[in-house]
Amino acid sequence: MCEIGDRLGFHERNGGNASYHLLPEEAKSAKKRLAKKKTGPWVDIGTSVPELGGDLFLVTGSGKFMRNVAYDPEVNICLAELNAEGTQYRIRWGLSKGGRPTSEFPTHLMNHEVKTRLTGGAYRVIYHAHPPQLIALTFVLPLRDRDFTRALWNTMTECPVIFPEGIGVVKWMVPGGRDIAVETSKLMAKYNNVIWAHHGLFCAADSFDNAMGQMETIEKAAHIYNIVHSMVPKPRQGITSEGYLAIARDFHLEISKRFL
Ligand code: 13P
Ligand code: ZN
Repeated sequence: MCEIGDRLGFHERNGGNASYHLLPEEAKSAKKRLAKKKTGPWVDIGTSVPELGGDLFLVTGSGKFMRNVAYDPEVNICLAELNAEGTQYRIRWGLSKGGRPTSEFPTHLMNHEVKTRLTGGAYRVIYHAHPPQLIALTFVLPLRDRDFTRALWNTMTECPVIFPEGIGVVKWMVPGGRDIAVETSKLMAKYNNVIWAHHGLFCAADSFDNAMGQMETIEKAAHIYNIVHSMVPKPRQGITSEGYLAIARDFHLEISKRFL
């Protein structure tokens, strides 16, 4: 996922980050295998995720380049273990030349917490990238869920199939802290994809394929929107509300009717 995202131009320098919430059986086996290894010190997360206490996360390192993850995972990512209260982490493996988990760890963990609660643990992956066409669109459209959902759904018939719940938008905020994590995780209760204005996109999914698939689809939709609106100020035609309802019926989807 890190490599493909880089190839698609989503990860300039250290832009973007990713985390995977280990399944209970994976965490158990990892803890057993790492039992005799030296662990890092406990470090404050900067927020609290009590529902994830004791869990393990594979997470990219802050300042590390996504293009280097597959090439040298031990240096660029780590396995972080949370304390029982979900307020601190310690490194159990990885970041072998030093470092710490992504500066967006608070957002990743708060998103994992809400998704774990709402999907019964089915969602395991949080992926953040800086896709250029979508970022460009955040300078043009009103920063509202409805405007982005309508604009992106309308670009490709597959869009309402891939994100029938719509898409959330967080206005510009300082990244890397608890405040933006709280705003993002509130929207993750309603959506699987949340835009950060003038910054990028967060995707939550049950697999790496789906996280990447959502990122790619949303960026492609933004690209089509930008092409069409560079050609004409007002497109001649598009998908109708009846069309969306017909898609929902035939694909057995729960489409957010408030966006029709
Ligand atoms: P990190 O290198 O800390 O992951 O930061 C990259 C980024 O995209 C911040 O939003
Ligand atoms: Zn970012």
